[in-house]
Amino acid sequence: MFEGKVALVTGSSRGIGREIALRLAREGADIIVNYFRRREAAEETARDIEKLGVKAAVIRANVGEPERLGEMFDAISERFGRLDIFVSNAASGLPRSGFDLDEKVWGWTMDINARAFLLGAQRAAKLMEGRGGKIVAISSLGSRLVWPGYTAIGVSKATLEALVRYLGVEMAPQDICVNGVAASFIPTEVGLSYAGSGQEGENAPWKTTPAGRMVSAEDVAGVVAFLCGDDSFMIRGQMIIVDGGFSLTPIGSLNG
Ligand SMILES: NC(=O)c1ccc[n+]([C@@H]2O[C@H](COP(=O)([O-])OP(=O)(O)OC[C@H]3O[C@@H](n4cnc5c(N)ncnc54)[C@H](OP(=O)(O)O)[C@@H]3O)[C@@H](O)[C@H]2O)c1
Repeated sequence: MFEGKVALVTGSSRGIGREIALRLAREGADIIVNYFRRREAAEETARDIEKLGVKAAVIRANVGEPERLGEMFDAISERFGRLDIFVSNAASGLPRSGFDLDEKVWGWTMDINARAFLLGAQRAAKLMEGRGGKIVAISSLGSRLVWPGYTAIGVSKATLEALVRYLGVEMAPQDICVNGVAASFIPTEVGLSYAGSGQEGENAPWKTTPAGRMVSAEDVAGVVAFLCGDDSFMIRGQMIIVDGGFSLTPIGSLNG
């Protein structure tokens, strides 16, 4: 489906971003693997992508720093001369309630989770000029639901989702489809760090969904691939919730 296309997936060294990168690669796209701290994981992802018969480039950049983000897009422009798919997946944050959320944690979280999407989409749009493209932002149910310690991330994801709506409309005339995917809990490194406090055990509410199992990174990757394909051309500025129906049920009722 994506032969000849070039895709950037931020934060694709591990977790959900890695699965998205592999899925797009399996369907023929050349992939730019972006990471921040774990070079080895990024290089392993790139090797796994190349085994699928497409090209992979690894670029280190803290997407929360506009200068580094800009350098990454400069490098993509030089090496590939185009971009067809931009998946804004990288995210960060620290567990804090609204009582002890200081401006440093607030700024760090908003810069990486929300501003990087705006600045990245602007640069991606330039590399998509004349051909159109697909932009997908990865969000979480915490943009609307309230979880302990998730305050800054939840607010950053709400901002991200508002941007999806605005850019979805503003970029539509250039044939750039902007949409997002909001997932429920997935047991990646960061997912487990938030599910921890007092919610362990077999009956933890996030361990099931009306669909009968937890959401996986592959589930998210499949929906991202759909949003990057031709069948979703008329979907603009929308968030697709991938949670097996979790957010529609009173939390815990499934286990009672
Ligand atoms: N896990 C969940 O339960 C869940 C649920 C809903 C939505 N999500 C969303 O899904 C996305 C991926 O989450 P995940 O669970 O896969 O996280 P993860 O396992 O912690 O992976 C995060 C990825 O982002 C990269 N990254 C972190 N900070 C970065 C920065 N400043 N610049 C560039 N890359 C950076 C990491 O690279 P390094 O390792 O090199 O630092 C890593 O590749 C996030 O947007 C998250 O909010 C997750």
